Amino acid sequence: MSGIKELAYVGYEVSDLAAWEHFAVNLLGMQITPRGADGFSLRMDQKAQRWLITQGAADDLVVSGYAVDSDTALDQLIAELQAAGFKTTEGDARLAAARQVDRIVVTADPMGNRIELVTHPHDAPAPFHSDVLTGPFLTGACGLGHQFIVTQNEASQAQALNFYHTLLGFHISDRIIAPLAPGLIADAMFLHCNPRHHTVALGAIPIPKKIHHVMIQVAQRQDVGYAWDRCLKAGQPLEMTLGSHPNDHMLSFYVKTPSGFAVEYGWGGLTIDDESAWQVRTYDTLDDWGHHPPAQELTLLQQGLPKPPSA
Ligand SMILES: [Fe+2]
Repeated sequence: MSGIKELAYVGYEVSDLAAWEHFAVNLLGMQITPRGADGFSLRMDQKAQRWLITQGAADDLVVSGYAVDSDTALDQLIAELQAAGFKTTEGDARLAAARQVDRIVVTADPMGNRIELVTHPHDAPAPFHSDVLTGPFLTGACGLGHQFIVTQNEASQAQALNFYHTLLGFHISDRIIAPLAPGLIADAMFLHCNPRHHTVALGAIPIPKKIHHVMIQVAQRQDVGYAWDRCLKAGQPLEMTLGSHPNDHMLSFYVKTPSGFAVEYGWGGLTIDDESAWQVRTYDTLDDWGHHPPAQELTLLQQGLPKPPSA
């Protein structure tokens, strides 16, 4: 495994804090921490915070925090990043306290995404509680989930792969090259740093965001169904309906956040438990089944409905 142990936390700058609180707590099932002056944090498990939500105009990802095992591992990563020409800055005690970690080093990936490399994300004093989940989020050794990071083009994709794979030490899980829309081929690389099939996906897709989605996984299959119903009843815009991917086998749906990018809400994702036995494959489809755009699924449903009696 790489020096990176897990995706420990993510941060989003959002324009509508109230909408985000409703979305994250009532629809996704997260636990909010007391509000600060400019936002709040969200818990998914015993960790003190997993998502950092701050007021701002970006409506996008603003930070990704990756945990490493030790100070030694962090020092080694810093040396490798600096040798490759990346700037690294040791964070001060105030930043470490805000992130609730022991030590923090700030850098950026080739797309300019802020990356924080940290040691020992702190636990909260009280157990995690959700008002709507029937079971826990699946985190632990697998970290908070995965995120699909947008690269701009082929050259950017190569630079991103060099950063995450060669420098940060993520292992390649697999690749999907598949039609995304008429005239548009998606080419995505999936990388892992722990047993979760992928923690980072990299793909050049034409959207004005730094990420396409962040995935969070529940341990109980019915929690996907309950979340699906909650999103439908709340009228939260959907990105893709229920479906499954060919590579990580996740049963999931995609719902739009109030900031426009998506959350993939999943269950049953594959884990890579034996690195030596893992074989990297290339798939030619993004989905085994489902994951339709909602309008397309509605059309398919209407095609199958009985025709109204003619007058
Ligand atoms: Fe995903």
